[in-house]
Amino acid sequence: MSKQYNVAVLPGDGTGPEVVREGQKVLEFLSKRDGFSLSWNEHDLGGDRYLKSGDLVPDSVLKDLRAADAIYLGAIGHPDVKPGILEKGILLNLRFELDQYINLRPVKLYPGVWTPLKDKEPEHIDFVVVRENTEGLYSGVGGFLKKGTTDEVALQTSVNTYKGVERCIRYAYEYTQSRRTRKNLTLCAKTNVLTFAHDLWERVFNDLGKQYADVTTDYTHVDACCMWMIKNPEWFDVIVTDNMFGDIITDLGAMVQGGMGIAAGGNLNPEGVSMFEPIGGSAPKYTGKNVINPLAAICAGGMMLDHLGERKAADDLEAAVMKVTATKLKSLAAGKMGYSTQEVGDLVVEELQAMGAGV
Ligand code: IPM
Ligand code: MN
Repeated sequence: MSKQYNVAVLPGDGTGPEVVREGQKVLEFLSKRDGFSLSWNEHDLGGDRYLKSGDLVPDSVLKDLRAADAIYLGAIGHPDVKPGILEKGILLNLRFELDQYINLRPVKLYPGVWTPLKDKEPEHIDFVVVRENTEGLYSGVGGFLKKGTTDEVALQTSVNTYKGVERCIRYAYEYTQSRRTRKNLTLCAKTNVLTFAHDLWERVFNDLGKQYADVTTDYTHVDACCMWMIKNPEWFDVIVTDNMFGDIITDLGAMVQGGMGIAAGGNLNPEGVSMFEPIGGSAPKYTGKNVINPLAAICAGGMMLDHLGERKAADDLEAAVMKVTATKLKSLAAGKMGYSTQEVGDLVVEELQAMGAGV
């Protein structure tokens, strides 16, 4: 019997639905080619539903998401909703509820893609950031004293548990070991200032390293990491870091790889349900115009296939995207691609068709 995957789809806000549709188009093509089937189960979480009903993630939806094989997300963010509500109430809530403790963000420059880094080519930019995704400054621990007065105190605590740090760093070692590259893992932290939290990170990093003899390791402070990502991105293979630093350096990474049009990520619970998304936002000003770049969503779909075990389909999807960036698109920016959103999805499918049979 052919494999069937139950995928929960959250198209979300703004351009989310447009890019998710193109991703589904590409994944549908691959499922027919390789003989697996995808059953899409859509939920309308996002700003519009929140404005109508006050719903963020209703229990019934959460129940469905828990039962899915994977979640495919477009974008969350609405211009009429105060910043923070949807991010916290939907995106972060799902990461926490589903215990998606890894945020995996590849930074890879595809051929034909413009990078702001002078003299850097695809062979120089190919690394992955493993970001801890459920702790640190994102844990929501903190509070106010004397709010609204000149004596106000605001506290926001970084929570780092042994269990959380250990499972993240262990995942990073395992992932580095499985790479077809040179197998180097860099710890990115700030041990010279965060002498408690990152002392724990450094000890766990060094201890676990003993179990992975084939993985070489090094260390960089986060500020220096930003410098090296610009000056010598070829130094990096896999970087492991905490939630806040990972948030920041992956936006830097997204720019280095050509912008939000191409940057994809996975919120992973290796033992549970994982969620895949383009890492850019909902781009309200481009909504409904058929000009947004769907490649990040298509690549997120590729990461999802890889995660589901459809490796050949995932590899071919990436190869097809690389062909499209190398030979077709004028730019990755919305409205400047030389093609519409739908046409870019079609181009990827055409490249896959040209590749012929799959497995
Ligand atoms: C990201 C986003 C989120 C984060 C926001 C929207 C809460 O910036 O996925 O990187 O900070 O993690
Ligand atoms: Mn971010």
